[in-house]
Amino acid sequence: MERFDFLVIGAGIAGLSAAIRLAETSTVLVVTKEELAESNTAYAQGGIAVAMGGEEDVALHLEDTMAAGDGLVNREAAAVLVTEGPKRVEELLEWGTAFDRYPKGKEGVEGELMRTREGAHSLSRILHANGDATGKEIAVSLLRHVREAGDRGGRIELMEWATSVDLLVEGGRVVGATLLDGEGGLRVVRAGAVLLASGGAGQVYSDTTNPAVATGDGIAMAYRAGAAVSDMEFYQFHPTAFSEAGAPRFLLSEALRGEGATLVNAKGERFMERYHPLLELAPRDVVARAITREGMDGAVYLDMRHVKVDLHARFPGISKFLAKYRLELGRDLIPVRPAAHYLMGGVKTDVQGRTTLPRLYAAGEAACTGVHGANRLASNSLLEGLVFGALAAETMVAERSLTELDACASVVASSGGVTPEAATERWIKELRDLMWKYAGLLRDKDGLEQAKRGLDALGAAMPKGLTRRAVEARNLHVVAELIVASALGREESRGAHFRNDFPLRDEVAKHSVMQEGRLEFVA
Ligand code: SIN
Repeated sequence: MERFDFLVIGAGIAGLSAAIRLAETSTVLVVTKEELAESNTAYAQGGIAVAMGGEEDVALHLEDTMAAGDGLVNREAAAVLVTEGPKRVEELLEWGTAFDRYPKGKEGVEGELMRTREGAHSLSRILHANGDATGKEIAVSLLRHVREAGDRGGRIELMEWATSVDLLVEGGRVVGATLLDGEGGLRVVRAGAVLLASGGAGQVYSDTTNPAVATGDGIAMAYRAGAAVSDMEFYQFHPTAFSEAGAPRFLLSEALRGEGATLVNAKGERFMERYHPLLELAPRDVVARAITREGMDGAVYLDMRHVKVDLHARFPGISKFLAKYRLELGRDLIPVRPAAHYLMGGVKTDVQGRTTLPRLYAAGEAACTGVHGANRLASNSLLEGLVFGALAAETMVAERSLTELDACASVVASSGGVTPEAATERWIKELRDLMWKYAGLLRDKDGLEQAKRGLDALGAAMPKGLTRRAVEARNLHVVAELIVASALGREESRGAHFRNDFPLRDEVAKHSVMQEGRLEFVA
């Protein structure tokens, strides 16, 4: 058994932002399921939204965040996000994060930070790095800073290839977690407090921009341990993932539209004017549904043939990916369709990262502060991880318990037998297909009930054993059940949750809360 002051599950922007603060005073273990570089953060392309121009700028960022969230944003959380954001981004700059700056001889003031625009932003406020590899640059610089924490006297251990299995709960408080290490051994880690920064769950859908690690582990573990989760029906579908048979659902950043890309249907018509006055820069949920509707009559494309920007220089990662399919941004129409991208719901927390369970905290995509409401404003997620990861860490340190940790912990036992790998993969595929078909972008009662029946049947044949994939299967099943139950309960359409049978929005906005099998809607 290992002991640390703090255990951080997840090494994306929220986990690393927290770990840096925790290591200033305490011993910290950060665990991640694959290599440290592999997180949703590292895949973020477009950028990080931040208002660095003073009070008016911050107020406008708040209003854009509120408007995109379709009446459900927790104003307190959004105010914290936009006011704390500039300070945290300044810190990133001090730690060496190289956001793109205007070069000599180009438009803009030489050396100043470049800013782009994305959907539902009223102005250009999104910083980016290496063109379209913002998340990667932030992750690399945070990791560098975490590693240097050791040199500054902190004790921080980083454990790769460790799958979290379950939280340890004693006397109603969280005291650690069980982990599967890279060799398949079960380890018990005890800690004074645990931070869930394990990201989202895009793998619950067959079509997703998320990497394989995004299986909702933190949310499922917290729910099993008795924590409340909130707003699980709100899954954001990114409008423009690459759409070609056999190709991955690669993200084609909203920043492409920020630089002027338009959307055209199979007839070559620009169609967004039929859906929203902001056209291609409408809120993400609106654009995703419009593409789905237009896509019923054939493919939908991003068109940048008219854009007078050096697209290779501005979007090097996307250009490189498309070249594999013999496509070029400024020359060809690029086929797109929506894919699951970001979970607005998650483990219910306050703005300090506290969950409903003592000594369990959550931040970033795994958490739900209500900051995104029913639909996240583009590029607010990196800022969310940065701000709320740091705040959660400050709270954990302030609330650190001085009581000695108990000596022993109960450990989950493997329930006899291991399901063969191929059967586990088939089971997972069935779940993902089911969710895409019946609990995706457009929903109704019949489909959601079909999804529920399918999940019940899958639950009866759950893959067995303490392997990473069996653990992930179990977690995906919990997350899927939470999404379906909350989506069935929400008989209205709001933001990313669209019910064909209840197409209107209720007058009063309510959050869904699920805990120990009970679903409630609270204003
Ligand atoms: C994108 O670049 O379009 C994704 C950024 C985000 O999800 O906010």
